[in-house]
Amino acid sequence: MRMYDIIEKKRDGRELTDEEISFFVSGLVAGEIPDYQATALLMAIYLRGMSDRETTTLTLAMERSGDVVDLSAIPGIKVDKHSTGGVGDKTSLAVIPIVASLGVPVAKMSGRGLGHTGGTLDKLESIPGLTTALDRERFVRTVLEHGCAIVGQTGNLVPADKIIYALRDVTATVSSVPLIASSIMSKKLAAGSDKILLDVKVGSGAFMQDLDSAIELAQTMVAIGEGAGRTTVALVTNMDRPLGHAIGNSLEVIEVANTLCGNGPEDLEHECVALAAEMLVLAGRATTREEGATLAAGAIADGSAFAKLCEMIEAQGGDVSCLRDTSRFRRASVEHAVLADRSGYVTRLDTTAIGIASVELGAGRERLEDEIDPSAGITLLKNRGDAVEEGEVVALLHTSDESRLADALATFTSAVHIAAEPPAPEPIVLARVD
Ligand code: URA
Repeated sequence: MRMYDIIEKKRDGRELTDEEISFFVSGLVAGEIPDYQATALLMAIYLRGMSDRETTTLTLAMERSGDVVDLSAIPGIKVDKHSTGGVGDKTSLAVIPIVASLGVPVAKMSGRGLGHTGGTLDKLESIPGLTTALDRERFVRTVLEHGCAIVGQTGNLVPADKIIYALRDVTATVSSVPLIASSIMSKKLAAGSDKILLDVKVGSGAFMQDLDSAIELAQTMVAIGEGAGRTTVALVTNMDRPLGHAIGNSLEVIEVANTLCGNGPEDLEHECVALAAEMLVLAGRATTREEGATLAAGAIADGSAFAKLCEMIEAQGGDVSCLRDTSRFRRASVEHAVLADRSGYVTRLDTTAIGIASVELGAGRERLEDEIDPSAGITLLKNRGDAVEEGEVVALLHTSDESRLADALATFTSAVHIAAEPPAPEPIVLARVD
């Protein structure tokens, strides 16, 4: 078999066989396929697409390219949750304690920020002392003793995705349904949970910019999960606006603490309850989504979800006093207010640009080796649909490095559109795929 022939076949829009796909994945991990041939094939897949069978074969070959996690020591149905990535998307930090406080164990492996989107690990690590580098044994023990843990990827999980993702990132081949679906689902399958809830983001801050492509991605991933024997459900949720008010690591942790204490922004609480409800049904803890939503809202109202968040943070070495008194988090030394230049309504937010502004302030990485400023980011005081007066504060930009402010301010300002008429309201949950 030759890579040349495989590239040519896909270039011409023909279906690859299972053997050809496995040859590509195993050759890549073994270091036998040069980057130029791998990227030529990825571009051909990007342009020509893949059939459902090809995408499933690619996913399973990627899953099996490294270790898989065994969670069988944890009793009960384990449900994983994954977001395709957004701006201000701190739902995992809130939803996992909600669900765990209701008796459903969650063993979650999370990632770091990617491009303009934030990562759960970076957010968690803004809590002084907290580690996300638990080895397998401590990871499982933490879930057994405390009901949940959120850690970084341990061991050699899906090495094929590490190689393929790095190539896609620099060759304009990220936003392809088969490539995103195989990347996400190979990691979810390898992470060992019994059932999977996917949060597929759509809008100006997401990889998928329109509802039809987001639904296609959700359907593809659900089909892969089901085909692999893992019940999988996807919610397609709105990323045409940042979620909540906070963007940036410690700012988002503070917002999660407030939300679990019943004082969070409405959009964030609504989405967290919807996601938690799905997980509770998948785990068999609730029979309907309505019952799941009532349980989830109850866990927020009676403080048990916040208590579970504190328990998990403490078990992972974090200073829980910061969550009980969020003024203990270090604040960025520069806080710049962005004022509205006219009166009207916030009609459109270029959410990717807002994510980039937050990275420019120091909340994310422009290069892999960059250090994150945990207190940098944006507090959005006006979101899509809000009325605003000329001179009113739209947002606060936080950074500890004043030289970062000018670029971030220019990026942020160009992302906010104010007009005379309010935009039509949009729901938070746009579709459900099962
Ligand atoms: N997240 C992933 O893990 N992979 C993708 O391809 C896109 C988002």
